[in-house]
Amino acid sequence: MAHLAAQPLPGCPEIRLALINSDFPTGPLPPEVMRAVIAEPAYWAFCWGSGLGLARALLDAPLHVAGKHVLDLGSGSGVAGIAAAMAGASRVTACDIDADACLATAVNAELNSVHIDVVDDLAGVPRPVDVVLMADVLYDRANLPLLDAATALDAHVIVADSRIRDLGRDDFTPMFELQALTFPNLGEFDEFRTVRLFEQHPGQRTSNSSPADSA
Ligand SMILES: C[S@@+](CC[C@H](N)C(=O)[O-])C[C@H]1O[C@@H](n2cnc3c(N)ncnc32)[C@H](O)[C@@H]1O
Repeated sequence: MAHLAAQPLPGCPEIRLALINSDFPTGPLPPEVMRAVIAEPAYWAFCWGSGLGLARALLDAPLHVAGKHVLDLGSGSGVAGIAAAMAGASRVTACDIDADACLATAVNAELNSVHIDVVDDLAGVPRPVDVVLMADVLYDRANLPLLDAATALDAHVIVADSRIRDLGRDDFTPMFELQALTFPNLGEFDEFRTVRLFEQHPGQRTSNSSPADSA
């Protein structure tokens, strides 16, 4: 009932991704399809607003990633890693626990003529890592421990999130906000159009890891 189409990203036309078609069916789904969608959400078939915003930010300010080994953690379509590669990263590794997301990241990297190594487990990421990008990975509170896993890499960690106003950790500092919408449009609430970027520099870790406040 839907298909993949290679599409330039709104506001970031330098990048093309194979994503669900913009006129994907939005009516009621047969129960077995609904169950399958819930059991294995195809996050990789959308470019989430946070990933889109982060990609724009990296292309506009390549200094964050140029010449560095960048890890796109929770890569989905691979949008953040692709932007990092285009912005001059010396090496990009993408990591996602979803095998389909790993495949999507590899295919999308090829579509944009950049090279990304893809792994499905953080343990498989070659060290050292200079920069960790996490775009829209904290959508589930169960993923909060990933922040600690990222900071344990002793890298510059950049978190982009449209659902969290305050990470609730004094070892992360707000960078800036920008406007970006998930593509294709999922009809999200206006409050999720604002993407907030937070960063932690190596050596900035503290023992404060209190839970984030959701928007
Ligand atoms: C909402 S998508 C965001 C994808 C992409 N970063 C973007 O902005 O479009 C979140 C992704 O994080 C991945 N993810 C969730 N938990 C993870 C984990 N523990 N390790 C690696 N990836 C994870 C999911 O499989 C999914 O592809």
